[in-house]
Amino acid sequence: MDNRLAKGMLSYQHAYHAGGPADLHKHIALAELLALLTKKTRPICYMETHAGRGVYNLNAAEALKTGEAAAGIARINLPEGPFSKAVQTIRASHSTMTYPGSPMIAKILLRPTDMMHLMELHPAEHKALKRHVQGQNIAIHHRDGYAGVLAISPPKPRKGLVLIDPSYEVKSEYLAVANFTRKLMAKWPEATVMIWYPILKAARHIDMLNALHLPVLHDEVSFDLKDNKGMTGSGLALVNAPYGAADIFARTRTIGAPVLR
Ligand SMILES: C[S@@+](CC[C@H](N)C(=O)[O-])C[C@H]1O[C@@H](n2cnc3c(N)ncnc32)[C@H](O)[C@@H]1O
Repeated sequence: MDNRLAKGMLSYQHAYHAGGPADLHKHIALAELLALLTKKTRPICYMETHAGRGVYNLNAAEALKTGEAAAGIARINLPEGPFSKAVQTIRASHSTMTYPGSPMIAKILLRPTDMMHLMELHPAEHKALKRHVQGQNIAIHHRDGYAGVLAISPPKPRKGLVLIDPSYEVKSEYLAVANFTRKLMAKWPEATVMIWYPILKAARHIDMLNALHLPVLHDEVSFDLKDNKGMTGSGLALVNAPYGAADIFARTRTIGAPVLR
């Protein structure tokens, strides 16, 4: 058993937060970014350090307990576009109360010529991810996301995107993200990196952004959650932002209205 599981460090479960306002912010931007990066025929490589289970049931007790999906995906009218395509596809193959996690959004939007590497450390989440997200061009790794992505970087093709989406349950995660990103850029300088972070009263994300020592394009939104445990908003930081990324962030807010401000 992984030491972190034994010590209760892997206690975060995304099922409580799936489809909530923070997911909308991250997932709309991710879908738009994947659509932008796949406009040209050249294949890309997509990686995730913290993949989760890929598919979420919004009728599950976890989702109903927090009400985050009710405050998020249930409140928006989806205009046509890549995020809507991912949501409609998963609803059509499962049920209207199913929500796609980031690996499933990528699976739906990427082409057979693109490559995907997904890291997930929690045994149950990893097992569910393997069940939900399969494909010839998809590699699912049961290992620490930071070590795993570094071990296979730079990949072929070298054009690509890495999503960093940890739970930030421990304070040290903010600096771990910054250190990892700097190491990754040294090994794979062409990569576009998207970091998700929560906005809390303690504002620890500022230390992380400062510790990156890299130019970033960032976008922050705020929202109301009934039981927000101090989270008042969500942030995304893009390293090596492609041309068009600023427009994507502007669109994310419009698509996520009235939830994202
Ligand atoms: C915020 S969730 C990911 C949500 C997913 N990216 C999405 O948007 O659908 C974080 C995930 O990281 C996993 N995790 C925690 N520590 C990890 C580590 N060191 N390496 C890989 N996965 C880890 C957790 O089990 C959890 O499933």
